[in-house]
Amino acid sequence: MVLGAMNLSIEGRPSRAQAIATIQTALEAGVTMIDTADVYGLGAADAGHNERLIAEAGVAASAATKVGVRREGEAWVHDGSPAYLRRAIDASLRALGVETIELLILHAVDARVPIEDSVGAIVDARSQGKVRQIGVSNVTAAELARARAVAPIACVQNEASPFVAPEPGLLELCARERIAFLAYAPTGGWRAGRLAHEPWLQRLAARYGRTCFEVTLAALLACSPGLLVVSGASRPENARSSARAAGLALEPEDVEAFRARFWADGRASER
Ligand SMILES: NC(=O)c1ccc[n+]([C@@H]2O[C@H](COP(=O)([O-])OP(=O)(O)OC[C@H]3O[C@@H](n4cnc5c(N)ncnc54)[C@H](OP(=O)(O)O)[C@@H]3O)[C@@H](O)[C@H]2O)c1
Repeated sequence: MVLGAMNLSIEGRPSRAQAIATIQTALEAGVTMIDTADVYGLGAADAGHNERLIAEAGVAASAATKVGVRREGEAWVHDGSPAYLRRAIDASLRALGVETIELLILHAVDARVPIEDSVGAIVDARSQGKVRQIGVSNVTAAELARARAVAPIACVQNEASPFVAPEPGLLELCARERIAFLAYAPTGGWRAGRLAHEPWLQRLAARYGRTCFEVTLAALLACSPGLLVVSGASRPENARSSARAAGLALEPEDVEAFRARFWADGRASER
């Protein structure tokens, strides 16, 4: 279970005190990794807000950060050019206050830049000791293969939830190749409010005496070995609840039924 820290810094963010309490609660509840990105803040002038928050909470060594997306006004723009990535990695090191970033993830593929060039810039940073492991996010299996031709890839971070299915075969590929699959927005991100009204999840939750959120996270965790869930929270109680879900073992037939119901034929649920 990974704490997704994005909502602590973007529009609608909580107070600084609540943000720090959320991070600390997650760690006390057993979470050992925090997902962040340089772009998580209120626009370009606030870049690095989330990374600085994690440093302030004293847990920068547990952070995985992402570069390759920046803000231009309201827009989130992909920028995978090596020159930009080099600057962004240095800025992330400063914001986190570390000498080495344990896991640095290319946030997105820039349609104007071959992924080989973007990953190559991160490889250069790794050879300078600035980065330990490299990940890629929002990629297809074909893009992952191209990235792996340049460097060993430790993780893929893609969206996966009852509302969004992973690309067919990608979970299995990652498990086979020992690449961690970090499922982001696992309870649906902006659609999370709908989870509690999903009758099938309600029945599953009642049977296990847990919430719809917790059984969803437990089902995702059981979908594949090496799958980690990047669960967002901006309230301590939600961080605690998500961490608790990691200890919930669902029956294999319930996990199968979850996959069949929400990800049949690789299609995402329309709900
Ligand atoms: N790589 C990418 O491109 C990318 C894109 C988007 C997100 N991410 C990562 O994924 C993380 C998670 O995404 P997300 O926050 O959008 O979606 P999410 O994990 O599906 O969470 C959505 C909302 O559900 C609520 N929630 C979470 N766990 C809960 C629980 N156990 N019980 C009750 N409510 C719960 C939280 O509300 P409260 O905020 O009120 O606590 C949270 O903000 C982000 O923080 C970020 O690190 C990555």
